[in-house]
Amino acid sequence: MKKPVNVAITGAAGNIAYSAIFRIAAGQMLGDQQSINLKLIDIEPAMKVLNGVKFELEDCAFPLLNSITTTFDLKEGFDECDYALLIGAKPRIKGMERKDLLKDNGKIFLPQGKAINEVANKKIKILVVGNPANTNALIAMHNAPNIDPKQFTSMMRLDHDRSMAQVANKYNVDIKEVKKIIVWGNHSNTQVPDLSKAEVSGKEIKDIMSTSWYKDDFIPRIQNRGAEIIEARGSSSAASAANAVIMHMRDWVLGNNDWLSIGQISNNNPFNISDNLMFSFPSRCSNEVYEMIKDIEMSKTLDEYIKTTEKELVQERDSVLDLL
Ligand code: NAD
Ligand code: LMR
Repeated sequence: MKKPVNVAITGAAGNIAYSAIFRIAAGQMLGDQQSINLKLIDIEPAMKVLNGVKFELEDCAFPLLNSITTTFDLKEGFDECDYALLIGAKPRIKGMERKDLLKDNGKIFLPQGKAINEVANKKIKILVVGNPANTNALIAMHNAPNIDPKQFTSMMRLDHDRSMAQVANKYNVDIKEVKKIIVWGNHSNTQVPDLSKAEVSGKEIKDIMSTSWYKDDFIPRIQNRGAEIIEARGSSSAASAANAVIMHMRDWVLGNNDWLSIGQISNNNPFNISDNLMFSFPSRCSNEVYEMIKDIEMSKTLDEYIKTTEKELVQERDSVLDLL
């Protein structure tokens, strides 16, 4: 068993966290040899519920779970923290776009960035989930000047996995046969799911795919999948979001040979996207590092879509300049 690492989770009394925490404690995120100290963070009124989560964790008798801290104090929660999952934030309800949450949720990520900067392990890996995830990640990153901006990521894995599943379903193949999916841009309805490099069973999809299916069915389906779930469930995705959290961190730490979509700082990208945005780019993970895949050309047919998602991220950033 490896020496324990500290994993902080905000919004730990909420729905996504409830689907994620037990799987993390069972070793599904960091591997079955990695002992974990869980630092569960929520706001003060949620402490009673959070204690209930702690009781249930204790009752699981997880061999990898070394300790559990519950707190509303950010410095206690992020102290010496190696991994941070910033989930805690309001979810949208029917009729809202994710960016409508920025006014309420953006301010949550300023003190969290500052606390991480002050007390976390300098090599910390951070995933921002609370919506709008990309701009919230930018806020946290700007408030943590002593942490390398590349250690802040925003969650695009759910969009990526949704794309994989829709393609596997369309071509009636096993998920393992689907490779090289890309989702560019913002976790919003302007995101750009891109199949121009994707492969099914070793063949390029673009050679067999109908443009009308891609543009009229696939893209809008992925862009609006979150809203489709809210419409059906009455509340936003939780178990699938928790799964995406676990897969994003697991691949970052333990590696994955396929391409992945990771929201990351756009500085010095070769795709002509403005600097200082948390933008999703195709990436590879190995040896605990993710790297943007730079040696590909962005499909020209996507130009307008890319401009739209970039513009939205610039507007979101410009609306929270006071938090940066
Ligand atoms: P939820 O309402 O069930 O839980 C949110 C939790 O966050 C609550 O326990 C609340 O008390 C807590 N919280 C609020 N402010 C906090 C703060 N300042 N510090 C710590 N905790 C705080 O919501 P949920 O379903 O778990 O969703 C959480 C967020 O994740 C939402 O913003 C949702 O839109 C977003 N989300 C993102 C993705 C993605 O792909 N990026 C996917 C699904 C959901
Ligand atoms: C999702 O994509 O399911 C989440 O971002 C929740 C939402 O508001 O759509």
